[in-house]
Amino acid sequence: MFEKSGLFAANGGWVTFQMDKFVIDGGHPLHGKVKISGAKNSTLPMLAACLLTEEPCIIHNVPHLDDVDFMLEILQSLGASVERQGTTVRIQSAKITPFGDYNLIRKMRGSICILGPLVGRLGEATVSMPGGCVIGTRPIDLHLKGLRALGTRIEVESGYVHAKAIKLRGNEIFLGGRSGPTVLGTINVMMAACLAEGRTVIDCAACEPEVVDVARFLEAMGAKIEGIGSPSLIIHGVDRLGGAEYSVIPDRIEAATFALAAAVTDGEVFMEDADLQHLSAVADKMQEAGCELVRSENGFLARRGKLLQSVDITTQPHPGFPTDAQAQMMVFMTLIPGISIITERIFESRFMHVNELIRLGADISIEGPSAIVKGGKKLSGAPVMASDLRASAALVLAGLAARGRTEVSRVYHIDRGYEKIDAKLEALGGRIERVSV
Ligand code: UD1
Repeated sequence: MFEKSGLFAANGGWVTFQMDKFVIDGGHPLHGKVKISGAKNSTLPMLAACLLTEEPCIIHNVPHLDDVDFMLEILQSLGASVERQGTTVRIQSAKITPFGDYNLIRKMRGSICILGPLVGRLGEATVSMPGGCVIGTRPIDLHLKGLRALGTRIEVESGYVHAKAIKLRGNEIFLGGRSGPTVLGTINVMMAACLAEGRTVIDCAACEPEVVDVARFLEAMGAKIEGIGSPSLIIHGVDRLGGAEYSVIPDRIEAATFALAAAVTDGEVFMEDADLQHLSAVADKMQEAGCELVRSENGFLARRGKLLQSVDITTQPHPGFPTDAQAQMMVFMTLIPGISIITERIFESRFMHVNELIRLGADISIEGPSAIVKGGKKLSGAPVMASDLRASAALVLAGLAARGRTEVSRVYHIDRGYEKIDAKLEALGGRIERVSV
């Protein structure tokens, strides 16, 4: 029924980056309907969760993204069989090894979420440290703290995390860090705790919809989890987990990005399949700024209103304003007359897009963790360079809003987390072309 993905066979197991750029002719409002893909941040740990059982798992609504390809490649390197047809993936981890190689792990920070499943299933793991990232230091101390509390002996040596547990035992774990809960840390510890003996309590657990989604998938595999979606997760360990069939939730950050694309181009776009409940903080701020958002059964509509008003935002853990939508929101702020302030509380260096937006004519200054946006400016096209996933999305939005031609280079960042963004924007009337360089 399933075919092997051509990606792995075609290039000997490596995903290569294309040095493409986007050429955008801005100033054209977006109109129409866009289908929102499955959530990247649910999919990655859910794929890793398939390591917890030797039985086959089938996951639907898996987006076509470079990060998903990386994760599938990692699972294959651990011994899992991977088959893919359209947006459905079948994974069977009948026999796996506990070694996560640096050359694979370093490509994507999200790959750290293989650690919990390997420790849970095999009682051991040797996994490369994921390394830093342009948006901040991104430590994994909380992941390790949680796994240690379950009885895992952990040493970090020569760039690798060596983890070994004779028997995982449930425990009470406080998993809050200096910026609050950790999304992948919560998921990692939750996954390992599913196969620990007894009861585990994770306090200060992350409440993001993607954490909920992975917990529901684990339940489908036979896990016993209470408090899903709350900051206190209670996991009753079971002896084994089995295969499951599950469908990934829609990507709330992709939906927020397209809603903001409608706002910055003064257009009107319907986000099909998106769940506005996952986006209440973004919706609240967009409405405060003068947008109209209309919820319906299978998605929501976003349009810019006549009168815009400046807004202030602080990024926070869910249900607060998501750091992953901060850069895109900043583009909208550059168009709103008056001063808007964004304070970034999750990642300390997440203003890499600011200098590029200034190149397009924005007036933004950075004061500590805050960006002060003097809005109401007319943006004009210029060459800019993408630095990370969400910053790239912001530059595309800015290019669509600006008059004239914008070239966004290094769009491999955007291909990691947005499925066919150029084709989706083009279908909405955006003038965007992918050019190979
Ligand atoms: C996930 C998302 C990412 C999103 C982020 C915050 C995935 C694949 N990625 O990343 O898109 O921007 O949540 O919503 O799901 N921290 C520690 N110690 C740790 C772990 C984290 O101090 O062990 C800190 C981080 O530096 C950061 C904060 O906790 O300041 C939140 O990070 P975290 O929630 O862990 O981000 P990720 O799960 O890596």
